[in-house]
Amino acid sequence: MLVVSETKALRAQIKQWQRDGETIAFVPTMGNLHRGHLTLMQEAKKRGTKVVASIFVNPMQFNNKNDLANYPRTLEEDQVKLIAEGVDMLFTPTPEIMYPKGLEAQTFVEVPVLSNILCGASRPGHFRGVATIVAKLFNLVTPDIACFGTKDYQQLRVIKLMVKDLSFDIDIVGVETVREESGLAKSSRNGYLTEQELEVAPLLYKTMQDIAKAVQGGECIELAVAHGIESLNQSELTTDYIRIQNAKDLSGVNDSDKDLVILAAAHLGEARLIDNMVFRR
Ligand code: PAF
Repeated sequence: MLVVSETKALRAQIKQWQRDGETIAFVPTMGNLHRGHLTLMQEAKKRGTKVVASIFVNPMQFNNKNDLANYPRTLEEDQVKLIAEGVDMLFTPTPEIMYPKGLEAQTFVEVPVLSNILCGASRPGHFRGVATIVAKLFNLVTPDIACFGTKDYQQLRVIKLMVKDLSFDIDIVGVETVREESGLAKSSRNGYLTEQELEVAPLLYKTMQDIAKAVQGGECIELAVAHGIESLNQSELTTDYIRIQNAKDLSGVNDSDKDLVILAAAHLGEARLIDNMVFRR
């Protein structure tokens, strides 16, 4: 696996592959790779003839300095995992390479509407940071395909909309969430949980399943969600939000909408967990 940090080396290799007629599939990450990330690499491998991954802990998407400082950085272990998945090139830029003038002077990409609801309301500026870094990475890697986890459902919708609005010629693929046997969605944030919290955390997914069942059984959305929040808050989890939205565009639900998504975020100890579940009623 080629490992490059400089944009010049990255672009030169990409151009060569494009001249050779290769199809480039890209998986951007912030590292600390778990099985969820590796399924993204496998999906990319199926869809492209060359797989490029990136590891960059993007300061622009953190609205909390401690969170950024404490974000797990495990580059050596990550590289071993990427080699095992047959990734062809890893891009590991520094903040100075990605933001040479600093964050304040950086041109940014803002995806309106979608960026200020749900996680965007709890983490102001987060999706501006995500959209900006993903747009920059897309311009550097110029992939044909890019794979993202559906665990970050709102992020996936923000990126799909950005790609459409800015006319990027990239096929965005959402890859299904990988879960522990307990139902807990795989996440780098799970590393912050204690043994005891790991036993409580699956309640988030179970609560979403209960809410979906209740709505499918005819209960009104507001009531089903309120019951879900009540039961979560009786545990050690503290609900940030649980919402049901239109699965396609995250707009509010109309009576005629059939494809819905439950989106949930909750705090547990040091971790903020997010999860979602698409369902049909
Ligand atoms: O999902 C992530 O790991 C990050 O938000 C992403 C897409 C790599 C952008 O920094």
